[in-house]
Amino acid sequence: MAILKVARLGHPVLRGPCRALSSDEIVSAPVRRLVRDLHETLREYSGVGIAAPQVHEPVRLALIEFGEDDARYRTRDAEPLRIFFNPRVTVLDEALSGFWEGCLSVPGLRGFVERPSKVRVDYLDAEARPRDLVAEGFLATVCQHEFDHLDGTLYVDRIADPKRFAFDEEFARYHAEPAAED
Ligand code: NI
Repeated sequence: MAILKVARLGHPVLRGPCRALSSDEIVSAPVRRLVRDLHETLREYSGVGIAAPQVHEPVRLALIEFGEDDARYRTRDAEPLRIFFNPRVTVLDEALSGFWEGCLSVPGLRGFVERPSKVRVDYLDAEARPRDLVAEGFLATVCQHEFDHLDGTLYVDRIADPKRFAFDEEFARYHAEPAAED
């Protein structure tokens, strides 16, 4: 297990397309090790998702995991660890949901991004078995954010209003909506 170095905004690995992995590759020892290291890196940085190009591996792999007590995103429901190989997104509801997104590759900043509110994801799991997931709300946004990474797209590309782009501290002070329980 290892905590991997995260590529930051400006590194070309974040901007190139990633290649799909074959079923044989998915169950291979090097890719299993990459999955373990991505998981450890995700937890080290307290992220909700991470994509392989963020650790300088341009392959179509992303992990999502978050707890219900995540104060930064005020998530309602916890999501167990999911490992997505070669994910494909189908939009099920074009209506947009907006969240203040952050990214381990753009540390210290967040921006408001609107995305389709409901999607289906077809992917292969860690055993290369076909799976699908219907995601709504915050989970739908996290899926789209992570899978954007596999095509070299970052959330900063999707900020419609540059005025809603802020450092964490200024976000908390001037932009954070009151928590539901407040
Ligand atoms: Ni990201």
